[in-house]
Amino acid sequence: MLNNGDVILSVKDLHVKFSLRGKVLNAIRGISLDLYKGESLAIVGESGSGKSVFTKNFIGLLDKNGWVDSGQILYYGMDAQNPVDLAKYKKEEEWQKIRGKEVAMVMQDPMTSLNPLKTIGWQIEEALKLHQGLHGEAAVKKAIEILQDVGIPEAERRAKQYPHEFSGGMRQRVVIAIAMACNPQILICDEPTTALDVTIQAQILQLIRNLKDKYGLTTIYITHDLGVVANMADRIAVMYAGKIVEYGTSEDIFYSPAHPYTWALLSSVPDLDTKEKLVSIPGTPPNMIYPPKGDAFAERNVYAMEIDFEEQPPMFRISDTHYAATWLLHPDAPKVEMPAVITERIARMKKKAGGDE
Ligand SMILES: Nc1ncnc2c1ncn2[C@@H]1O[C@H](COP(=O)(O)OP(=O)(O)OP(=O)(O)O)[C@@H](O)[C@H]1O
Ligand SMILES: [Mg+2]
Repeated sequence: MLNNGDVILSVKDLHVKFSLRGKVLNAIRGISLDLYKGESLAIVGESGSGKSVFTKNFIGLLDKNGWVDSGQILYYGMDAQNPVDLAKYKKEEEWQKIRGKEVAMVMQDPMTSLNPLKTIGWQIEEALKLHQGLHGEAAVKKAIEILQDVGIPEAERRAKQYPHEFSGGMRQRVVIAIAMACNPQILICDEPTTALDVTIQAQILQLIRNLKDKYGLTTIYITHDLGVVANMADRIAVMYAGKIVEYGTSEDIFYSPAHPYTWALLSSVPDLDTKEKLVSIPGTPPNMIYPPKGDAFAERNVYAMEIDFEEQPPMFRISDTHYAATWLLHPDAPKVEMPAVITERIARMKKKAGGDE
């Protein structure tokens, strides 16, 4: 199982801020998280919760008006004994040692990462040249191999085509192929599938899983849809207003969710069997220029207690793998039941899992 020796990236109390029209926006407000070598982590949360900003710190792609205010991002991938602290990286030359070859990111819009004027094969060969020192025939051969790896049929013929000749799903595969050509240790996929339909989303997720298995990649998959990552992610981190409010194994999150925000997210996921869309989360996330004093979710939380408006909850340990930051887990808090829609769904999931065995 997971143990400390296998940590590839360790984030410690990270705070990230942006300067915005003379004010300061608090985008990441104290995140600590270990990423284990070879795992697939999903980061889930509503729009604006900080998923992209958080992970952009791992490759030095933070927008110019943003900065790491405090905290560490220890990367163990180059030297397991002597990690480098990416939170201290400033110069472009420093990042060039990391970006692509250690940590690669597939962006939200695949079109922006492809050159419309060059063939797909050329673009992968370029990455191979730069990152693996392959040239000529060797590069051409390897490019075709990678295209096959990412599930593109007739790879040899397709390599000679241009991005516009590919469908959305196939383009996404090409972007992943280019990332793979850099031979990274960590692959971050920032919601690569929002524009695609659900079947294609599932296929891309499956592809990422296969690549993870084949190459021992560590993957981070970012999405606002918890339903998408069911059965796909080893672990799930739920983000809200610049913090991780709950994390655990996929099982922890789906079978024993503990944070009211996770309950709300789960309630808004269409049921995999019945396809019914359940309740959407009422209210809106807080303004991060003036983050609330207490738990940022308190305003929208029907279970909120007085203390939720006064003080931010610490991370409570539920098990070795499962943690959540909600006052409901304080020993003195009243016992509350999670919403019935979720308990019923969990019962259905358990029954189904039992029946499949
Ligand atoms: N360059 C920037 N300047 C100022 N604020 C920014 C900047 N980039 C992001 N933010 C703010 O940081 C917060 C987190 O944004 P982020 O893009 O990480 O959200 P997200 O979870 O990725 O959302 P989405 O699901 O829509 O992609 C938001 O409040 C956003 O407005
Ligand atoms: Mg984003």
